[in-house]
Amino acid sequence: MDGFGNLPEEVLCHILSFLTTKEAALTSVLSKRWLNLWKLVPNIDIDDSVFLYPEEGKREKEGILQCFMDFVDKVLALQGDSPIERFSLKCETGIDKDRVNGWICNVLRRGVSDLELSLDYSGYDSDSDEIYCLPEELFESKTLVDLKLRSEEYGVNWWRGGEYTCLPLLKTLEIDAEWITCDELEMFLPAFPVLEELYLADKKWLWNETVSSSSLRKLTIYASGFESYLNPESISFDTPSLVYLEYSDFVAADYPKVNLTNLVEAHIRLMVTEGQVNLIRAPNDEDDGFLRLRNVWKLISGIRNVQKLFFTADALEVLSLCCESMPVFNNLKFLCIKSDKERGWQAMPVLLRNCPHLETLVFEDLSHYVTDKCGDACDCIPREDKGSLRSSCPVKYMKITGFRGTIKEMKMITHFLEYFPCLKEMNIYVEENDPTEFEVPGRLKLVRQFWMFYDEFFICYVKLLVSPEVYKKWPPE
Ligand SMILES: *[C@@H]1O[C@H](CO)[C@@H](O)[C@H](O)[C@H]1NC(C)=O
Ligand SMILES: *[C@@H]1O[C@H](CO)[C@@H](O)[C@H](O)[C@H]1NC(C)=O
Repeated sequence: MDGFGNLPEEVLCHILSFLTTKEAALTSVLSKRWLNLWKLVPNIDIDDSVFLYPEEGKREKEGILQCFMDFVDKVLALQGDSPIERFSLKCETGIDKDRVNGWICNVLRRGVSDLELSLDYSGYDSDSDEIYCLPEELFESKTLVDLKLRSEEYGVNWWRGGEYTCLPLLKTLEIDAEWITCDELEMFLPAFPVLEELYLADKKWLWNETVSSSSLRKLTIYASGFESYLNPESISFDTPSLVYLEYSDFVAADYPKVNLTNLVEAHIRLMVTEGQVNLIRAPNDEDDGFLRLRNVWKLISGIRNVQKLFFTADALEVLSLCCESMPVFNNLKFLCIKSDKERGWQAMPVLLRNCPHLETLVFEDLSHYVTDKCGDACDCIPREDKGSLRSSCPVKYMKITGFRGTIKEMKMITHFLEYFPCLKEMNIYVEENDPTEFEVPGRLKLVRQFWMFYDEFFICYVKLLVSPEVYKKWPPE
């Protein structure tokens, strides 16, 4: 430690701040000087599993939890009133809730700006089923900038109502827990006037909801509909500053307001039930369910300014409801479609035609359910008038993943090569996990001939990429 011993205190404190609190505490055994220093580190990172080694059954040992709690108490007491920047606490059932809340209040008083809490409690007092509540002080902090809350199994009540909550500096809020209860977003968001990033996993909508914020720039919502998998009634996005949206949910019956004027990147992961897929494939204007699904065009129209767009297979299936109302994606440069053999490409031809400046097209897997229109974009249904995409699709670069070496895939690739006149480069990645057809006798030779042909006769540069592990398993030629 001698080399370190001569460094100035600020530098040593900085080094210590990268260690977990337990490691930092160990350094104090080494020298007296370190003992005093680590008490001043501005970051505290406490993970009870590091202390309690649950895998060795140590957690169950008598007195060990008490010992852990005393250690945290002592660390905080030693630090006194010195300012703290970051506090991370991960603990599970068995730790006294009041003490946990005492620790949280301690760091809040000392001006913590970055707080990360990962708390998994069942009712600690076995005779009370009371849900764990975070301390009131947390809802009034004037210093918090970053707040992350996680809970994997048990409930955490962290909302006190809009009138009691104001975090005037909070920029990032991440709630990653099914059971962390909070209010409707409309009531909830005004408590964070400068919030820029919001991450909500396992969000259950309460009723009609509006995500409204003028400061929000990045929004990720993994929702699961309204109460036990019903489609939400109506969802609105009034977030004109948003640049990044990741939205996963069952399709809402309506999207009355969508203000996403400045959106640059969107990941749309709409989910549908099999019943809804049947409705989508057999359009019926008399059917209420069908009409409600069709309102999805309002969401799609609202994201028309994006430059980068990702659709899942379900979302693409839903998009076929917008074939007549498809907006023109004038800024779109990058489009990624994840396919699935159970989901159709009905919307693909219209979508590609409405992306006049598309440069990069990515297909994660080419398999899809054959519908009457998909043949315009691929080779499923032979068509005389194929080539409707020819003059309109400006794609320069294509990437295809999950290639299995099937004849159908090769036909589709041929189609792309022949009908996308601007294509300069196509990279095809061989499937790594699922079975492929490269083991079929003669298939490898066929694929190679195919490649040589395109290499020789087309201006497009086509590359087949295979991982060394998969390559090793291929039969010798
Ligand atoms: C929810 O929104 C729908 C359509 O926008 C409306 O008809 C309905 O009355 C709203 N329900 C509530 C409870 O606000
Ligand atoms: C979106 O919000 C901005 C800022 O509030 C506003 O100026 C604009 O008119 C809105 N656009 C739409 C389509 O509502």
